[in-house]
Amino acid sequence: MDNTNQSEYGWTLERFILERQREIPGATGEFTQLFQQIALAGKIIASRVNQAGLAGLLGHTGKTNVQGEVVQKLDVFSNQTLIHCLEAGGQVCLMASEEVDDPIPIPTRYPKGRYVLAFDPLDGSSNIDVNISIGTIFSVHKRVSTGNEPSLGDCLQPGRTQVAAGYIVYGSSTMFVFTSGDGVHGFTLDPSVGEFFLSHPDITLPERGKIYSVNEGNEAVWDEGVRDWVRWLKTPDKAAGKPYSSRYVGTLVADFHRTLLKGGVFAYPADKKNQSGKLRLLYEAAPMAMIVEQAGGAASTGTGPILDVVPTHLHQRVPLYIGSRGDVQDAIDRIHKS
Ligand code: AHG
Ligand code: MN
Ligand code: MN
Repeated sequence: MDNTNQSEYGWTLERFILERQREIPGATGEFTQLFQQIALAGKIIASRVNQAGLAGLLGHTGKTNVQGEVVQKLDVFSNQTLIHCLEAGGQVCLMASEEVDDPIPIPTRYPKGRYVLAFDPLDGSSNIDVNISIGTIFSVHKRVSTGNEPSLGDCLQPGRTQVAAGYIVYGSSTMFVFTSGDGVHGFTLDPSVGEFFLSHPDITLPERGKIYSVNEGNEAVWDEGVRDWVRWLKTPDKAAGKPYSSRYVGTLVADFHRTLLKGGVFAYPADKKNQSGKLRLLYEAAPMAMIVEQAGGAASTGTGPILDVVPTHLHQRVPLYIGSRGDVQDAIDRIHKS
């Protein structure tokens, strides 16, 4: 890419994607448009998140979702915003959302595109009311079905075949981080311009970090191997850079974002209560796994790469160990030791 002639502000997200797509033979512009719509949804959600306390958007709706979790007003708003921004553009043929039981069809009045989009509209719901970072996660596949209508199978593809994945973190600034299989790039929203600008090109993780991130309140229900691993991380060993520091936000997007930028490991293990862990494969684990692998890190269920898990249902959960390659390998080695 020719980086000459940059203004002080550099690349917008849109221009960055446009320039890259131009280098791909046969690219139609559909992918660029898809990202424009996702970014638009992100900007709308970011604006509401910033005003949530004023706009009456804090608190819950009184309902629970398909996974039995309390639905917050911002969950609903973010879900509706994403659907509204994506359904009419003609890039997507089917969507899946953490907040919706079944695949979301495109209304018949709109054209259908070749992409399938899965998303967690608002990640970190329990942190909304206390002004802690929350986020949106998305995953993009190509349609594989050949019939007239797309089908559930289009949503149930392994992470390995994602063509793009990303997240938006609504933190002290709003950032859009994505990969389309060509490295990981981060963009920061300038709210006065209303655009995301490239701020973190080619993000890579160190081989090992200094931080572990896990909900230790679950220790009583962990397997002995997980307990042993966390104890080991806390055991002083200067040469090995231990003890590691502990950080846990409780918003995957925020915990993952820190892990991506600083290295280390985030885990949500399987436990005696949740045999498959807590996090969802399609719109949490798989997109983050694509991003982390593209940044030189690793993501594992504890027994194999997240990206190789073939989903059998939409809201499937999966244990997750993700971050610096060496730290994830240590976790896998230790949890199988005892
Ligand atoms: P969501 O708000 O989309 O339901 O996701 C919450 C997830 C994830 O963001 C976070 O890593 C994890 O739940 C935290 O769970 P615990 O409160 O059990 O630690
Ligand atoms: Mn989530
Ligand atoms: Mn959510």
